[in-house]
Amino acid sequence: MNEQIAIVTQGLTKQYKNITAVNSLDLTIPKGTIYGFLGPNGAGKTTTIRMLLGLVAPSRGTLSVLGYDVEKHRDKIAQKIGAIVETPAFYNYLSGEENLRVLAYSSNLSLTSKEINVLIDRVGLIGRGKDKVKNYSLGMKQRLGIAATLLSNPEVLFLDEPTNGLDPAGTVEMRNLISELGAENRTIFLSSHLLNEVEQICSDVVIIKQGEKKLEGKISNLLAHTKGFSIKTSSVTQALSILQQYPKLQPQLDNDGWLSVKAQANDIPSVISTLVYANIGIYQVIERRNTLEELFLELTGQPKQGLSHN
Ligand SMILES: Nc1ncnc2c1ncn2[C@@H]1O[C@H](COP(=O)(O)OP(=O)(O)O)[C@@H](O)[C@H]1O
Ligand SMILES: [Mg+2]
Repeated sequence: MNEQIAIVTQGLTKQYKNITAVNSLDLTIPKGTIYGFLGPNGAGKTTTIRMLLGLVAPSRGTLSVLGYDVEKHRDKIAQKIGAIVETPAFYNYLSGEENLRVLAYSSNLSLTSKEINVLIDRVGLIGRGKDKVKNYSLGMKQRLGIAATLLSNPEVLFLDEPTNGLDPAGTVEMRNLISELGAENRTIFLSSHLLNEVEQICSDVVIIKQGEKKLEGKISNLLAHTKGFSIKTSSVTQALSILQQYPKLQPQLDNDGWLSVKAQANDIPSVISTLVYANIGIYQVIERRNTLEELFLELTGQPKQGLSHN
């Protein structure tokens, strides 16, 4: 067993009658990363997470969490992981604080009131711990859900679309909280159908579609590839006709008077001096990189289908 690996699946498959929800999925998730599990609705994210939690039996394949076979040692894993798969259920007539106390008690965890209050503050429910849960917004319930998963200080957190249904402010708060939790050397396996969410919070990503892995890697590596540069000049038409003398640059007019060129960073100084030599003023030069969305579309050749910026 590799000490540095949090989650491994091999050939993981879930077949429902005529639907293959998850198809021969191989995952290796290193410890201490915020790993994005990205895919459109119906891609098989929840099914995979349910299998990793031991809630659904795989049809084929093997899977282990923290070195333990999920099917054989679910009890050993349970103490070390936390998960939010659906909106967590709480007692509405109890306060947030009381709910956490009940949960801690029923899970045999001895936490002091002070420790519970620290958790409440931690997830951004400062001053609201004594309010009844029935008066909480969805975002507050989600945050209480995170507090509940943190009761046992888990090494691995599974979060299945944790910002679903939240308003924009709630979404931002939840993303910040997840980033903070990930900075604590925890492994976070975060499923999402939102590309920009994954781009913002995760260090690594695996993209699945129709149950199959399409792409994976460090987001910084995936996005490091330069597509070209956009240049804002004092005269876009003049700049265009000058750069058209260099077909390799494939100069093009963009929106708002920008000119784009297909160039690498070391081509840019001579592009600029050529323009300056022709008395064209340069206002801005911006590097354009692949977005995860473009990579995904390139890879699958499919239209967006629910994978969208939001
Ligand atoms: N219990 C089930 N019975 C039959 N089909 C299911 C069941 N659960 C999920 N599916 C199907 O498996 C596919 C993957 O679903 P799911 O894992 O929920 O995707 P995601 O979470 O990525 O949106 C979908 O086509 C879904 O309809
Ligand atoms: Mg789902």
